[in-house]
Amino acid sequence: MTPRTAIYPGSFDPVTLGHMDIIHRACKLFDKVIVAVLTNPDKHTAFTVEERMDQLRRCTRDLPQVEVGSFNGLVADYAAENRAVAVVRGLRAMSDFEYEFQMALTNKTLNAKLETVFLATRAEYMFISSSAVKQIAMFGGNIERWVPACIEQDVRARIYAGGQS
Ligand code: PNS
Repeated sequence: MTPRTAIYPGSFDPVTLGHMDIIHRACKLFDKVIVAVLTNPDKHTAFTVEERMDQLRRCTRDLPQVEVGSFNGLVADYAAENRAVAVVRGLRAMSDFEYEFQMALTNKTLNAKLETVFLATRAEYMFISSSAVKQIAMFGGNIERWVPACIEQDVRARIYAGGQS
């Protein structure tokens, strides 16, 4: 049987424990999960695409179903190239819904074979976002409850030390 592949696209700048929770849960639903970092040269990010991919690879080392990739352009095309049957996205609050619903409908229009699967966040990760992580790190706050341990030092060093952010 053909493995059922899902794409989990995002900025992951940086990957948070909320993202990791979605990745773990997507692995229970699909045979293969491609975590895909959007390459958008117009968007200012704290970490380069290569750094974010490296962080994701380190954080998913124990998940053999996960492949880390990057894409430039439409997620619908990237999904078709990779024979993915679904796009996975996490939903934190109602405020996420409008944007996510619009993306899901756009992706469906572009690629009729593609389904969007929304996973409701776990309550403890409801307020986690990459932006909040960067703000907390910038002011020297404790981010250990927000990001995977294997990248905590990366984030602290880049953001608190000034770095690119
Ligand atoms: O982590 P983010 O920043 O919320 O992820 C947003 C992302 C990468 C999923 C979204 O911007 C995206 O899919 N961009 C690719 C362009 C695209 O396919 N647009 C059509 C759907 S609106």
